[in-house]
Amino acid sequence: MEHTVPTMPAARRPGCPFDPPKELIEARGHGPISRFPFPDGHEGWLVTGYDLARSVLADPRFSSRKELMLHHPLIDYGDIEVPPAPPGEFLLMDEPRHSRYRKPLVGKFTVRRMRLLTERVEQITAEHLDAMEKAGPPADLVTAFAKPIPAIVICELLGVPYEDRGLFQEQVESFLSGETSDEDMMAAYIAVQGYLAELVAAKRANPTDDVLSDLTDGDLTDEELKGMALILLSAGFDTTANMLALGTFALLRNPAQLAALRADPALADRAVEELLRYLSVAKTFMRVALEDVELGGRTAKAGTTVILSLNTANRDPERFADPHLLDLRRQDGGHLAFGHGIHQCLGQQLARVEMRVAFPALINRFPTLRLAVPAEEVALRPETADIYGVKSLPVTWDA
Ligand code: HEM
Repeated sequence: MEHTVPTMPAARRPGCPFDPPKELIEARGHGPISRFPFPDGHEGWLVTGYDLARSVLADPRFSSRKELMLHHPLIDYGDIEVPPAPPGEFLLMDEPRHSRYRKPLVGKFTVRRMRLLTERVEQITAEHLDAMEKAGPPADLVTAFAKPIPAIVICELLGVPYEDRGLFQEQVESFLSGETSDEDMMAAYIAVQGYLAELVAAKRANPTDDVLSDLTDGDLTDEELKGMALILLSAGFDTTANMLALGTFALLRNPAQLAALRADPALADRAVEELLRYLSVAKTFMRVALEDVELGGRTAKAGTTVILSLNTANRDPERFADPHLLDLRRQDGGHLAFGHGIHQCLGQQLARVEMRVAFPALINRFPTLRLAVPAEEVALRPETADIYGVKSLPVTWDA
């Protein structure tokens, strides 16, 4: 019998904030692919198996094009038309359009370039820890630590001037949180677009030492540069911020793992990979079949939408031993938390640097760091948010 997941689960199991919803784990138990009837009636597929998810991500017969994304897993929008992604917004493009924008950026996000940033990330992290220490316990780790660090890093990389950061950050947050009203989100989105248009013009007139200024050298138009900046911002800020906050929550709930990381700085690299796998905050992506494709013994017909549950794939028992265990010493790498294939996360080395610096710095600065509320009271983002995480994380420590 073919398994069907009738609706996208709206919540996680109480007491299990780090695990994918139980309906998705159960679906994996039935096989790597399930039928998924979208709320608007479209008959799609849901992939929860690691190997199958990875192969879809690597397969050019599956598209990321925005204009093909006509079905929403949670909402019935009826019969809609979706315009293609605006110039520069390459996350939702296929080749060859995608490469035009990704190529000039690749060299700016290499391991070597990102390692050079380490010292600056250490400084930014230390400043925020100093401020937390000075203010004294308790603190909300999201506002004091997890959000500002990646926000400052991405602003510096793009060349957003210091005096604009506060307002800019607020607007970016409000269009990414998934919790503001549609109207407010749209207003914030338009404001960010307007700001980025001005920023691109300013960089073209007076290039400074940053990624955006560098890009004004090539044949990309201002409109294209604006779109690229928007993608970098929206992909690079909320994801890392949620990894830092949810990752801290997960460490505090696994004291033996936390102690191991504190005791052994050499564990940081592996710990970051394991937290990425275990938490998979960028949890769900979609692709559309461009032709009939055989998929795990089924056929995804041309035009069919396929949902990839990356967080469930990263808990696949056929790929990872004891998949639901957070084990910072785990050796079986190769998680899909940064995706795979042509859209694999461009900023992954940057995200790694930020996490490798921030987690150890935090837990070493505050050896008695702990939750300031019972774990069940930590407010989680709803499953409707694109990126999973905590809304706030009240923490305290012995001053
Ligand atoms: C822990 C933090 C992060 C996670 C979990 C994450 C996750 C992902 C995933 C899963 C994708 C693939 C999307 C798809 O296949 O459709 C992606 C793409 C992308 N990410 Fe990240 N990301 C993180 C941090 C960053 C940072 C810091 C930056 C930037 C500066 C960034 C920039 C991008 C861009 C530009 C893409 C689109 C790449 C393309 O379409 O070619 N990400 N990310």
